[in-house]
Amino acid sequence: MPPIRFALAGFGAWGKFHAQSIAGNRDAKLVAITAPSEASREEAWKLYPEAQIFADSLDMIAKVDFDIIDIATPSHTHREIALAGMERGKHVLLEKPMAITLDDCKAIVAGARDHGVHLAVGHELRLSSQWGRIKEIIVAGTIGDPQYVLVELSRKPYRPGASGWRYDQSRVGSWVLEEPIHFFDLARWYLEGSGDPVELYAYGNSRDSQRPSLYDNFSAMFQYSNGSYAVVSQTLAAFEHHQTVKVSGTKGALWAGWSGALDRTLEPTAFLKVFDGEKLEEVTLTKQSGEVFELREEIAQSIEMVRSGKTPIATGLDGLWSAGLCLVAEESIRQKRPLPVGELLQF
Ligand SMILES: NC(=O)c1ccc[n+]([C@@H]2O[C@H](COP(=O)([O-])OP(=O)(O)OC[C@H]3O[C@@H](n4cnc5c(N)ncnc54)[C@H](OP(=O)(O)O)[C@@H]3O)[C@@H](O)[C@H]2O)c1
Repeated sequence: MPPIRFALAGFGAWGKFHAQSIAGNRDAKLVAITAPSEASREEAWKLYPEAQIFADSLDMIAKVDFDIIDIATPSHTHREIALAGMERGKHVLLEKPMAITLDDCKAIVAGARDHGVHLAVGHELRLSSQWGRIKEIIVAGTIGDPQYVLVELSRKPYRPGASGWRYDQSRVGSWVLEEPIHFFDLARWYLEGSGDPVELYAYGNSRDSQRPSLYDNFSAMFQYSNGSYAVVSQTLAAFEHHQTVKVSGTKGALWAGWSGALDRTLEPTAFLKVFDGEKLEEVTLTKQSGEVFELREEIAQSIEMVRSGKTPIATGLDGLWSAGLCLVAEESIRQKRPLPVGELLQF
């Protein structure tokens, strides 16, 4: 079978891992890369001499023959690039956040539907041997019906990103859309049996008076009509990278932790303990957990999606929900009150 041809938009810190994961998959071929700056293009040329290198994503989309575009550019550019790819009938693997406004997210989901192409969103934590295993344990009924989910991260501050986009609100949208979006996605996935969330309340604060709306400390709670609820919490005013998930169900509970000096370490420590109401078990993880490992799975899934139409683990609607919860959280902080969730995401 011929390899699936990937065009990659964005060759920054995360885009380079995408390039490695594509190039390392024997069923994929990296045919083109876009990076606007001379320095990034130079590096792309050196590392991937067989790929065509472009300064402009729309130019790449117009000129190259490919099957799927993989978008790892600053978040404010996602809508334009995704829609341009879809208009050419190309499938899309789109990094989270899908986009920085709800309108943009809805336009992307509609674009995939109208052009008949597949859309996968980069919520790769679902593919983790650790965070994904939790979902399997919940589905197996080991802890009963989940009623409480906590996803918490403490880490060092964000990197600025190419030309400082991550510290510019007009380009990043919100810091909630950067990392907490993964936790909204996981919590909603774990609580899938409760239906859709109905209400959300959030707090945030910043230690820098120059950027009061980019929150270093952020916490949100969202609840379901059956009374189950989730807590998503993050501090960027800390050190290293340490993530915790706790889930309590009607029968038992589980607790998982992941720690590394960096989010992209190849040597993290991780554990997962499960209590079924009678006995406590430490689960042996079959593979390493960490976003660099999950990205390889995400590329493999995207190949399947293109070849056989297999639904990706995180669809456009999942991306829309996750971004939507982040944006409602931002609004809840501004309005200082709980807000309904469902109707904001009507589609
Ligand atoms: N799923 C995850 O776990 C995860 C992890 C990290 C990041 N992300 C997401 O991935 C995206 C990129 O993040 P990053 O950390 O890689 O950012 P980054 O390090 O700043 O890299 C961004 C890259 O995009 C390029 N770029 C800027 N505008 C472009 C355009 N219009 N067309 C094509 N390329 C363009 C930049 O080019 P130059 O270098 O030439 O300036 C740079 O190579 C963001 O949406 C971020 O939220 C997801």
